[in-house]
Amino acid sequence: MARVERHFVCQSCGAVQSRWAGKCEACGGWNTLIEEAPSREAAPKGLGTKPGRKLAFVSLEGTGQPLARLGTGIAEFDRVFGGGLIPGSAALVAGDPGIGKSTLLLQAAAGLVSHGLQVAYVSGEEGVEQIRLRARRLGMGEAPVALAAATSLRDILTGLEALSPPPAAVIVDSIQTLFVDTLDSAPGTVAQVRASAHELIRFSKRSGAVLLIVGHVTKEGQIAGPKVLEHMVDTVIYFEGERGHQFRIVRAIKNRFGPTDEIGVFEMTGAGLKEVSNPSALFLSTERSTVSGTAIFAGIEGTRPLLVEVQALVVAAPPGSPRRTVVGWDSGRLAMVLAVLEARAGLSFGQYDVFLNVAGGLRIEEPAADLAVAAALVSAHADTALDGRAVWFGEIGLSGDVRPVSQAQARLKEAEKLGFERAFAPLDSGAAAGIRIESVKRLEEIVARLAPERPARPRRPSDRHG
Ligand code: TYD
Ligand code: MG
Repeated sequence: MARVERHFVCQSCGAVQSRWAGKCEACGGWNTLIEEAPSREAAPKGLGTKPGRKLAFVSLEGTGQPLARLGTGIAEFDRVFGGGLIPGSAALVAGDPGIGKSTLLLQAAAGLVSHGLQVAYVSGEEGVEQIRLRARRLGMGEAPVALAAATSLRDILTGLEALSPPPAAVIVDSIQTLFVDTLDSAPGTVAQVRASAHELIRFSKRSGAVLLIVGHVTKEGQIAGPKVLEHMVDTVIYFEGERGHQFRIVRAIKNRFGPTDEIGVFEMTGAGLKEVSNPSALFLSTERSTVSGTAIFAGIEGTRPLLVEVQALVVAAPPGSPRRTVVGWDSGRLAMVLAVLEARAGLSFGQYDVFLNVAGGLRIEEPAADLAVAAALVSAHADTALDGRAVWFGEIGLSGDVRPVSQAQARLKEAEKLGFERAFAPLDSGAAAGIRIESVKRLEEIVARLAPERPARPRRPSDRHG
């Protein structure tokens, strides 16, 4: 009797193993291995000698017409894609459950049909009535989107092929609910998710329709995460946000047809997602803080300047190892700034718990935030408020030097626009009419200014007497 091969697939990265284990050897994920039915096809036999169709090779030069992109009319969304959606391309829109993916894509669908395009919205999660209710709530109940509730991929493809006129865009919500009936695995497994995506992508390439696939991000690994699809699609968009906050950010992680550093900012309101075209105003608290530990960072996200508030709290720690808690920034980077403050400016945080937070739930990646973080930390340590009308930016080196960063001019302009009057910035950061620039060459200058009588070396009587 033939031995039955067992087949465990990591739901996070798609690696296949023959034995179950608590941890995936390939990606290190815990509890992500699930037994899946092996595919029924026999092992491939090779191509044999039968010739195929002869390929017609062409040269690189050609018409070179730029691809006409489809605009959804939602500028924050289109910009992240590089200025609209490319016909025949496939994008994955990934995010935590409940973050607003269905809402966003329904609004995008309404935007596309308003330009006279046929758009199919297929949901495996909600019934048609539920989708209609949501559409009414979003004030787009009359938009002629072609709706269907289905989970069988065969039915979906047959339905799409029969649509007239053929769809210019197809939205599938979500990939984890679909199944291909030739596979034994349950919906949501790696095998099903890949097979469904593969068929949908083939449809989109063949028909020229834009394909937008919704994928839930999963923490437990019970259903396949978006990682297993990222290499199959042209564009991967993450839709992120903090549950407690009303704003949401779309960010391209991969983009074959555009930039990957653009973000689109939305606010979740009672009537759906509203575009935020001036995000700085959203991320700054309305009143200028006079509390210690707060610094305004003049950042850049993609092509846009963005001012955000960096908050630090420094409190005496109980004996043992002090805590370092970071929200919205890199914890390794915080450790570095703390170490440079200690080594180069004599400001020790060893007996303190340090909390760092980027206000509003935004996540910043730029090293240019170093100086704002350092200023917030020094201000919290000295319990001295910073000038509420000042912005900060600059990268800090391990030697304590403050280095120039890109797009200083755009940062200053944005600060000026929002009524700031001073900027602490690296040398040669340019100028802006209403802003007084305070050049900072070294980190020690900040410490000397804010915490002149810092307890760097606790004075002992012997010091005084030499
Ligand atoms: P949804 O788009 O269903 O999330 P996902 O598809 O990513 O799972 O949105 C879920 C949340 O958004 C839900 O908690 C309700 C909220 N919401 C609003 O606040 N306003 C609205 O107009 C809509 C449609 C949803
Ligand atoms: Mg949904």
